[in-house]
Amino acid sequence: MEKGKIVKVSGPLVIASGMQDVKMYEVVRVGKKRLIGEVLELNNDIASIQVYEETSGIGPGESVIPTGAPLSVELGPGLLGSIYDGTQRPLDMIAKISGDFIARGVDVPSLDREKLWHFIPTVKNGDTVIGGDIIGTVQETSLIIHKIMIPVEVSGKISKIKESDYTVTDTVAEVHNSKTGEKTEIKMMQTFPVRKSRSYAEKLPPIEPLITGQRVIDTFFPVAKGGAASIPGPFGSGKTVVQHQISKWANTDIIVFIGCGERGNEMADVLLEFPHLKDPKTNEPLIKRTVLIANTSNMPVSARESSIYTGITIAEYFRDMGYSVALMADSTSRWAEALREISGRLEEMPGDEGYPAYLSTRLAEFYERAGRVKCHGSDGRIGTLTVIGSVSPPGGDLSDPVVQATLRIVKVFWSLEDKLAYARHFPAISWLRSYTLYIDSLTGYFAQNVSEDFFKLRKQALKLLQEEASLEEIVRLVGIEALSPAERLVLITAKSLREDFLHQLAFDPDDTYTSIKKQYRMMHIIMLLHNVCDEMIANGAAIDRILSLAVREKIARMKFIKETEQKKFDEMEQEIDTLKKIKVTTE
Ligand SMILES: Nc1ncnc2c1ncn2[C@@H]1O[C@H](COP(=O)(O)OP(=O)(O)OP(=O)(O)O)[C@@H](O)[C@H]1O
Ligand SMILES: [Mg+2]
Repeated sequence: MEKGKIVKVSGPLVIASGMQDVKMYEVVRVGKKRLIGEVLELNNDIASIQVYEETSGIGPGESVIPTGAPLSVELGPGLLGSIYDGTQRPLDMIAKISGDFIARGVDVPSLDREKLWHFIPTVKNGDTVIGGDIIGTVQETSLIIHKIMIPVEVSGKISKIKESDYTVTDTVAEVHNSKTGEKTEIKMMQTFPVRKSRSYAEKLPPIEPLITGQRVIDTFFPVAKGGAASIPGPFGSGKTVVQHQISKWANTDIIVFIGCGERGNEMADVLLEFPHLKDPKTNEPLIKRTVLIANTSNMPVSARESSIYTGITIAEYFRDMGYSVALMADSTSRWAEALREISGRLEEMPGDEGYPAYLSTRLAEFYERAGRVKCHGSDGRIGTLTVIGSVSPPGGDLSDPVVQATLRIVKVFWSLEDKLAYARHFPAISWLRSYTLYIDSLTGYFAQNVSEDFFKLRKQALKLLQEEASLEEIVRLVGIEALSPAERLVLITAKSLREDFLHQLAFDPDDTYTSIKKQYRMMHIIMLLHNVCDEMIANGAAIDRILSLAVREKIARMKFIKETEQKKFDEMEQEIDTLKKIKVTTE
């Protein structure tokens, strides 16, 4: 193919002439250093190229070589445990080749070409297969079995397949299509363009919650498996901790974590911390079921732009195996800023705050790749991909264009507040501003698996917290004396909900995770006591009496009750029940 020539270099944007043969979104190698770039705009023979590496030192006159392929990822065994940059270059391999910092134009395959994987067929010679069928498995890590799938466009009879050790590029099977006469060699590795979503047989409604063990999330604002959620929050309010907690505890098989850090140390934290996180269920390193995409501060902004696509395509691939996958993007604001920078250099018409007009479309395209789907293949397996993105608007301002555009797409909003973080109320998720639109889809699951009255109690509890907010306003204006005893009780119960239920310490071994059953019991006890006290007040009990109930002490400590000590909840309930029987005398 004809080579192009660089005309101009402007930061991550390179303009080249002689590019009449390339296509939009084609990957090109730019300059003597052969930097990775992608064609963003074409005008006759002039191409605007987004370059994913530092462009200093390259200049006009140097050549641009088309590769004929769109920006793609390699999919196959070896993904789990890997740490990649935004264009799926393995960071540890790059570091080995080029020393500590990442040298430019380094060509390293994303999946190890030498490594042997033990392939065990699950079909045999003569079996008929269709696109998406699983033909064999590889134990990729001690935690995850990698399923080898037939590409969607292939079908026919298996004409060759054998158990053995193979590299990702070896042929593990052959499919013969008698109609077309075509023979297709099946390899464990597939390449797939990142800007297009991977197809599935059917999109299904989400019906199961992602259980994260975080009480404010699971009980108050749950996200469905296959849903999309957003975590906006100001600097230091706990976005990363929430995403780490979900990665660690959520009931999913696979985690894809995309770190788009702005500050160098932020990403270093992820790179240093993540590999040390333990999978609580198996006590093995969490990284054995994780793919990490990291943008460190010495990478140009454009690499952040591609990283969310690289990440989500990998996530979809595991979904297609029938796994439940959770993808975290931390933070999408850094991604949007990259988009803004490139758009500015392309001299596009700026929209709100300088972001391009297509910001919302791009965000929608990203979040819409979440879902619960029936995968291709004859076994009807179901996979889910849940997408959780944090947003860091300047000053925590929710009118920020990225927050606003995200709000229009996602169905769950966990709004972090710095006021709560300052008060050390963690997770600093506001119970007044946050919401979930999955309640209707999840009612059946909670009724069946937890309790019939789960959402009824949740509604009552949320209502109390809202009442608290308006009562506090009255207290501020005219003092607590203005409140009736029943209103005082609302404040007491709301405080208990906040401190004994919503407040949860990520770093306390007993408090870091709460099963959904225990969450229910905790909420149930607080609400039970509330209702009993309400009756006592109706019968004339004084507020002091309500405040001095001994069971309050126990409620304050119930978050530390071990999952195996459910008996303690029974005892507390009995204790509250006996209050009902006590005759209250008016003091
Ligand atoms: N659930 C929690 N339990 C205990 N401490 C927490 C919790 N969440 C956050 N913190 C505290 O708040 C600090 C900041 O949290 P985190 O790094 O997640 O904020 P962030 O919103 O990601 O910040 P940035 O905007 O810098 O990325 C943590 O280091 C920790 O001390
Ligand atoms: Mg953070």
